[in-house]
Amino acid sequence: MVFKERPPRDKGVIADDRLMELHLYPGNQCNQDCSFCTVFGSPKGWYREYTQEHLDAALRTVMLNEQGAIKFYGGEPTLDFENVIWAIAYLRQQGYAGAIVIYSNGIQADRLLQILASDPLSKTTASLNYSIATGDGAPQMPQKALERLKTHEMEHPDSIAIGHPDVVDSGRGVEPFTGEATRPKANSRCPHCYPVLTTEGKFHACPFAIENQSAHFQLGDTDSDAAEIAQNFQAFFEWLDTVHEPFAIAHNLPACTVCWKHLDQLPLPNFDRLVRATAD
Ligand SMILES: C[S@@+](CC[C@H](N)C(=O)[O-])C[C@H]1O[C@@H](n2cnc3c(N)ncnc32)[C@H](O)[C@@H]1O
Ligand code: SF4
Ligand code: SF4
Repeated sequence: MVFKERPPRDKGVIADDRLMELHLYPGNQCNQDCSFCTVFGSPKGWYREYTQEHLDAALRTVMLNEQGAIKFYGGEPTLDFENVIWAIAYLRQQGYAGAIVIYSNGIQADRLLQILASDPLSKTTASLNYSIATGDGAPQMPQKALERLKTHEMEHPDSIAIGHPDVVDSGRGVEPFTGEATRPKANSRCPHCYPVLTTEGKFHACPFAIENQSAHFQLGDTDSDAAEIAQNFQAFFEWLDTVHEPFAIAHNLPACTVCWKHLDQLPLPNFDRLVRATAD
């Protein structure tokens, strides 16, 4: 395989109230409808474009130096590639110097490559959907698109990676998945992802559970200050380790199944700690 998996980076890193990574989500509209899709992607999904207000909130929350990473996902980012290209230009104009990653199914290969080429710092890379790149668990992307992306990766090494083969029980999840039986599916430990800012203006604790509106995931909105988002994210991580994981182990459940089906049995993370500390 020409495309390589990226090694994982440190989890939960925060400095001066800024997160090391942030996902951006404009809705689940997609040109595919993968059976396992964690966000319920489909052509009938919702979509709202990136705006200055939305990106300004991202710029207040994520590390702006080389350590930072902003990850565009969806839905399918190539559907409105002009808005993504505008968003990258805006982030760079405002001084964002970190990495940018585009999660894409790669079917619109030319548009994806235009997005990568648009970054004036040449630090925008792509991560492909494992199933659509390989044809294991979803229809494979057209050979012409695959060849274009492979050629680009060979000419620009490490510009296009491939996502993890794991399928988690979130959204449409593992039950409808039709790929290789050996692909990893169950783990009682949450992967501890970085949070998401949606174009509806909400900070949500988990990119896999983004369409789950439970209060357990609500970290704030574009009016919240960065310290509140950072503290609520820390509170969510503490909750994962002290409440969520013990429940998953005690009931022998995969981690994402707990979030998807059992949150009504779990207390909320300690989100109001900042409010109480300020009042003291
Ligand atoms: C939700 S998609 C959005 C971006 C783009 N449409 C794509 O497919 O890459 C982002 C990533 O989530 C992965 N994904 C979707 N459903 C998943 C699941 N149930 N478990 C694990 N990963 C999943 C996809 O394979 C893809 O790599
Ligand atoms: S995994 Fe990606 S390509 Fe597949 S339906 Fe979901 S958003 Fe679309
Ligand atoms: S366990 Fe919950 S928080 Fe962790 S990845 Fe799964 S859905 Fe997200």
